[in-house]
Amino acid sequence: MIKNIKSIRGMKDYFITETNIFQHIENKIKKILFSYGYNEIKIPIIENTLLFKRAIGEITDIIEKEMFTFQSRKGVFLTLRPEGTAGCVRALIQNNLIFQKQRFWYSGPMFRYERPQKGRYRQFYQLGIEVFGFSQFTIDAELIILNKKFWESLKIDKYITLNINSIGSLQSRENYKKDLIIFLEKNKNFLDENCKKRLYKNPLRILDSKNIVVQNLLKKAPKLKNYINEKSHSHFKNLISILERLNIKYNINENLVRGLDYYNDTVFEWNTDKIGSQNAICAGGRYDLLVERLGGKKTPAIGFAIGIDRLILAMKKITNLQHQKKIDLNIVITDKFIEKDALILIELLREKNLEFKITMNFDKLKTKKKFFSYINTMSSRFLLILEKENFTQKKFLLRDISKNINIILSKQELIKNLKNILNK
Ligand code: HAM
Repeated sequence: MIKNIKSIRGMKDYFITETNIFQHIENKIKKILFSYGYNEIKIPIIENTLLFKRAIGEITDIIEKEMFTFQSRKGVFLTLRPEGTAGCVRALIQNNLIFQKQRFWYSGPMFRYERPQKGRYRQFYQLGIEVFGFSQFTIDAELIILNKKFWESLKIDKYITLNINSIGSLQSRENYKKDLIIFLEKNKNFLDENCKKRLYKNPLRILDSKNIVVQNLLKKAPKLKNYINEKSHSHFKNLISILERLNIKYNINENLVRGLDYYNDTVFEWNTDKIGSQNAICAGGRYDLLVERLGGKKTPAIGFAIGIDRLILAMKKITNLQHQKKIDLNIVITDKFIEKDALILIELLREKNLEFKITMNFDKLKTKKKFFSYINTMSSRFLLILEKENFTQKKFLLRDISKNINIILSKQELIKNLKNILNK
């Protein structure tokens, strides 16, 4: 027997419910992005592996163990993008766009070899935005306002919380790391294996350990905020004060450091308790050094990415969105001798009614009883059964299913009046 071929672990198929919510999310978000002057950028799914190593940082989970990497026919190492920021910066530099201020958005699949669970997949979808050329706190605020508008337009704003922090400059973090390592070395017994592995390689990641013992220990550890310079402090203070004036609720989470190395100053995550442990729906922050690190001219930058898969999970849980619009008119052809005439008529009906869902089916309905049972099983608003007699007698019967009435029309009347009838 032939063995069925299955999808790859951690890679999902999405059907009608999810794809409808997906489209709904994209439509709402795109409208808002348009009104703020953001432009779409489309970047490749595959990039040179070096790009991600240089951008994300060698000692991060993504680079150490989560990349889908393979060799090209010429032996070059290529990677399925684990995120969109690196590719966006590469494109900006390569296309010489650094010299103007830019507001971009992108959307598409990303790939990470993580352990799959609810809300965590190996192929997942992000909608991200990246802004280049602005160093002021006002752009950080613009991004958070945008996020808030997205959640409001999707009617889930009450269930999502903003967690925000400032991780300061690279230099501040280097100073902090030294003292943190000294503290953790003295308390090594409290660290789990994972934290011990990170101790010298990437000690900041220990800050967002989920282990309770480690979390308790961290309460006594030196605090990153005490190492942050005046410029970073005032940037963050200004941002927080504008959030307050705009009445945007936030929670300062001093342990929020992010798993990618390119950030500085503002970092943030939007979380919900509606979807289980993988609760970050959107995350981002400032990355003022990345353009230079990838070979461009020093350019301030900031961005975020929304995890669409997690947003879909949240939408399903929170909203009672009508996921699928009912069919407006279902047309059934009952006789193969009229197939051609029927198809031509149906195309005439569709021509001026693109805004309606009109479906065509072929079915042999021999009895009246079957006709009525057909109506009961249809989830359409109207039904048009096309039989041989309709074409010979030039009379057509349109059934308004919800009102339980029949409308008799000539071919011309049917074509002319269909829009009005469906609009009622
Ligand atoms: P990230 O935190 O790695 O940041 O991912 C952003 C969002 O993508 C997460 O908050 C989550 O919703 C979703 N996500 C990440 N991994 C998975 C997964 N395995 N399965 C399902 N969803 C996932 C970035 O990617 C940065 N590039 C964001 C950014 C843009 N920073 C600046 N600009």
